[in-house]
Amino acid sequence: MHRCWGGRLHGSRHQLDHNGAAASGAAAPRLIPRYSERVAQVITESPSPAEPLLRLRGIEKHFGPVQALYNVDLDLPSGQVTALCGDNGAGKSVLTKCIAGIYQVDHGQFFWEGQPVTIHSPRDSAKLGIETVYQDLALADNLDIVQNMFLGRERLRNGLLNEDDMERAASQTLANLRVTTVRSIRQPVASLSGGQRQSVAVAKAVMWNSKLVMLDEPTAALGVVQTQMVLDLVRRLRDRGLAVMVISHNLNDVFEVADRIAILHLGRKVAEDRASTFDRQSVVEYMTTGAHGPAVQAGNDKGQHGTS
Ligand SMILES: Nc1ncnc2c1ncn2[C@@H]1O[C@H](COP(=O)(O)OP(=O)(O)OP(=O)(O)O)[C@@H](O)[C@H]1O
Ligand SMILES: [Mg+2]
Repeated sequence: MHRCWGGRLHGSRHQLDHNGAAASGAAAPRLIPRYSERVAQVITESPSPAEPLLRLRGIEKHFGPVQALYNVDLDLPSGQVTALCGDNGAGKSVLTKCIAGIYQVDHGQFFWEGQPVTIHSPRDSAKLGIETVYQDLALADNLDIVQNMFLGRERLRNGLLNEDDMERAASQTLANLRVTTVRSIRQPVASLSGGQRQSVAVAKAVMWNSKLVMLDEPTAALGVVQTQMVLDLVRRLRDRGLAVMVISHNLNDVFEVADRIAILHLGRKVAEDRASTFDRQSVVEYMTTGAHGPAVQAGNDKGQHGTS
């Protein structure tokens, strides 16, 4: 089967600047860089308030005969939380993995800060400043918090691990994100609660100059208090100017943290707009029926009638 690996420009099919305009209002304060202490490195500078950090256009992905994504357009602006919603099998995880470079897209284009880029591997994605937090795969159970946060990127001094330096940086990052409930950063992550694990996984992601953090079902296995802890963390990332994409089936979580909502139905994006333009009922309707919602009706419906 013919494949065109990522980064192929698909003509000039542009949707209305709906989302860009939505981004401009909330993004304006980020024009003044906030270099706060040691987490300054995670703060992103937006090249233009109207330009989303990451813009996806015409993304398609199939696995053999299964078409997982059809012509998906999505904007992920800095300083905003975008919730990606959809029923089981809608394509949320596949889309996330395409952005993370785990899967290569068949067709479509990525624009990073307005420039076309190719994402062919997790390395490409990491180099851009994209970090993904998976519910179960994020951390190594047998390692402690510091070891996990520096896994594969250990700091050395004179050829030896610079434990002091790594401990300091790990503590500082957790403190800056106000993750205060862990007893010791030297405890194995197997001994952490679900919410603490999720927090460490997020802190690990933001330590590495991340500009976009994607969280796939970050609260799925968590209780009420732990869920609040993770949602607070998501807000803090947003307030630091990062673009955040959250996948969640839980509409309470979605409406609590999302600035924007995008909805997939059977591999097609059926709605994308500011969260305030949706209510629970409409989100459920778009998720379950695939009816077109905002920002799709007005010219982004090629996928609805395209290849299948
Ligand atoms: N590696 C794969 N090989 C074949 N098909 C796949 C693969 N990964 C995903 N799919 C298919 O792609 C479609 C989208 O799957 P995806 O995992 O993205 O759904 P999802 O929206 O994340 O669902 P859920 O809410 O259940 O996690 C499904 O039909 C799934 O069966
Ligand atoms: Mg999934």
